[in-house]
Amino acid sequence: MKQAAARAALEYVVEGGVIGVGTGSTARFFIEELSGMKGRIAGAVASSEDTRRRLQGHGIRVFELGEIADCPVYVDGADEITPKMHMIKGGGGALTREKIVAAVAGRFVCIVDGSKVVNYLGRFPLPVEIIPMARAHVARELAGLGGTPVLRAGFVTDNGNLILDVQGLRIFDPVELETRINQIAGVVTNGLFARRPADVCLVGTPDGTRAMTR
Ligand code: A5P
Repeated sequence: MKQAAARAALEYVVEGGVIGVGTGSTARFFIEELSGMKGRIAGAVASSEDTRRRLQGHGIRVFELGEIADCPVYVDGADEITPKMHMIKGGGGALTREKIVAAVAGRFVCIVDGSKVVNYLGRFPLPVEIIPMARAHVARELAGLGGTPVLRAGFVTDNGNLILDVQGLRIFDPVELETRINQIAGVVTNGLFARRPADVCLVGTPDGTRAMTR
């Protein structure tokens, strides 16, 4: 189902453009699909070092964000997505670079299997990337918001930071909570993608792939 959603995303690839590419198992299927049309795109922007290596391994040119004039489309998975196209991302720890590429991209195409579609976000623990020295402070603040932060053991992000996975948050207003958590000193960003939601979500199901839009 992930592969079917990834294949369907090829329809949104803009020929001649630089394509933003996400991180995770669904994005990996997309990289394989994209390699089949690499001669028809200028290249890609990677949302993680892992994705960069995989793209290059397929002979796809990888640009730095500062090198390109625009990025017409960004294709990535999600850990949860609602019908309003708000998401939790960062299960793979690449949330900050993912959010940067998503901010630059003209269109965000989310690719998921049906298990990721939820009415309310929060069953999946919310990843928060933090500056290491702020760990105790951020953890106290997140607990004050009603969550239980757990340090992702043995994990360092591509940016040299740590991740707190926050369990038990009741996320009724994802836009407000995204903003609020990002105000905590020491937070780099959090895995709520609500201020910049997806534009299209391709959902792989046993009966085929369906598209949700805003
Ligand atoms: C990576 O940091 C994440 O945001 C992924 O996009 C998300 O975790 C989805 O991953 P899978 O495609 O592996 O489910």
